[in-house]
Amino acid sequence: MYVCLCKGVTDHRIREAVENGARSWRDVQGETGCGTQCGKCAGAGKAITREAVVSE
Ligand code: FES
Repeated sequence: MYVCLCKGVTDHRIREAVENGARSWRDVQGETGCGTQCGKCAGAGKAITREAVVSE
């Protein structure tokens, strides 16, 4: 599903970023652009990032 409409980032894309070495929300933002425009997706993006990092 789309987490970030502004940047077209899916939950899958966030998990992929974590698989590729992103370890924080900041890393995910840098790699995907998620949350860098309107910011509405930040809560969901952070939660998915946290979950993905924990299950790595
Ligand atoms: Fe992600 Fe707007 S929905 S920055």
